[in-house]
Amino acid sequence: MSKKENVFDAIIIGTGIAGLNAAASFGKDKSVLLVCKQNSWDCNTFYAQGGVAVAVDEEDVYSHIKDTIEAGAGLCDKEAVEIMCSDGRVAISDLISRGFQFDKDEMGNLLYTKEAAHSKNRILHAGGDATGRYIHHFLMRENPHRLLYNSIVTDIFIEDGFCHGVRVFHKEEFRNYYAKSVIIASGGVGSIYEYHTNASSISADMQGLCIEKGFDLQDMEMMQFHPTVFIHNKGARKQLLTEALRGEGAHIVDEKGKRFLFEYDKRGELSPRSMVSHAINDWKSKTSHEVYLRCNMFDEEFFKNRFPTIYFNLRDLGFNLPYDDVPISPAFHYAMGGIKTDINGKIPGVENLYAVGEVASTRVHGANRLASNSLLEGLVFSRRAVNDILKKDLYFRIKEFPKDEEILKKEIDKELKNELRSLMWEAAGITREETKLQKALEKIESMLKKDIGKLLRLRLNTSRNIVKSAIYREESLGAHYIIKKGDT
Ligand code: SIN
Repeated sequence: MSKKENVFDAIIIGTGIAGLNAAASFGKDKSVLLVCKQNSWDCNTFYAQGGVAVAVDEEDVYSHIKDTIEAGAGLCDKEAVEIMCSDGRVAISDLISRGFQFDKDEMGNLLYTKEAAHSKNRILHAGGDATGRYIHHFLMRENPHRLLYNSIVTDIFIEDGFCHGVRVFHKEEFRNYYAKSVIIASGGVGSIYEYHTNASSISADMQGLCIEKGFDLQDMEMMQFHPTVFIHNKGARKQLLTEALRGEGAHIVDEKGKRFLFEYDKRGELSPRSMVSHAINDWKSKTSHEVYLRCNMFDEEFFKNRFPTIYFNLRDLGFNLPYDDVPISPAFHYAMGGIKTDINGKIPGVENLYAVGEVASTRVHGANRLASNSLLEGLVFSRRAVNDILKKDLYFRIKEFPKDEEILKKEIDKELKNELRSLMWEAAGITREETKLQKALEKIESMLKKDIGKLLRLRLNTSRNIVKSAIYREESLGAHYIIKKGDT
């Protein structure tokens, strides 16, 4: 361990499942600095309800691969999927052997539930619908490393094909931290959309920074919208209603009680989520009907125990579940695209910079992520990144970088951020049209020319990349649904 207190073996940006599991994988004897923007729990892992998908036995690995590739609509990297599905079993056994408790039946057998587009029940869950929160809590309790709260990473130092460290804004001052390796695990892009299910600090800035450093993002048009979200609560993050509800029998109905999803796909409520989101949107605009999630087929006691987060959160919002229908809308949920990495999470062109979890793109999710594969991805690829780093035993000579002051926020930013959110929702949302995308691109370019703070600029860089990628992909694929001229 270095004697200098701002020098570490590794710096990890983000404290969701990928960041915390990477920290755990380094072991206690490495010096690791974890950096998070606000509180450690302000991450998407914390709000993940459904669970973790994992093959139930060796034989099921093949069908987990097949389901993932089918949902991914031809854009998956087969090797990455094979790694996730086979190493996933080891990652889950490892988590259990470290003491994590998934939900079990009275006999002590693990309980597996079903979610859309899975060919069998293979979703493990904890605390009913609090899987992400339980895993986050567990990993935080395990974490032996230093954690810097309320710290925004404003720069990464790249020189001669090597990442030397990061600049952080903490307690009203800029600080430089250096390390042998840096792992970006900062999550997706939720805050650039008007309606989303993400933690409030997830705002696409590391993706935007990587663009400025010359690294590639890939598949950024592939944005996933969760079909069942209650969007009328206050606050930026909207209330997710897990897929597991539909997996276990809930229905989607319109105000006349019609289960209209069957007009779009014979799998009805269990169609892939891109299909369900599109169908809800389409039905609402065709019929002007409100659409609801109906849970009245569940026994109340069962519902309360199996879905306590939803039961209590919705009760606070005035719903008596499982009896009341809940109005739903699709909302932005997950970015399949991200910083391009190899299958060890390494960013091409730089020796010691890695990206894992939602911020990264190994193409494991292709054009449409299979439900509950993201927590598994976070576990598997964070471990691979750390193994790759440890194998290399990287040479390290500190190169000091200037402690430049940067203007992170300006007066005008707030208004533009709100404008950006509705622009992205309208133009790069569930359904896209080229003319709308072109207009959005012009608008983003003009915002980028204004006198704005750095954090908004980074968000805009990422948004521009999403819009350009959506324009570039002229045919619909997976989560990217584009209406062409002449289509009705
Ligand atoms: C959910 O619980 O429906 C979300 C699961 C996921 O995003 O994979």
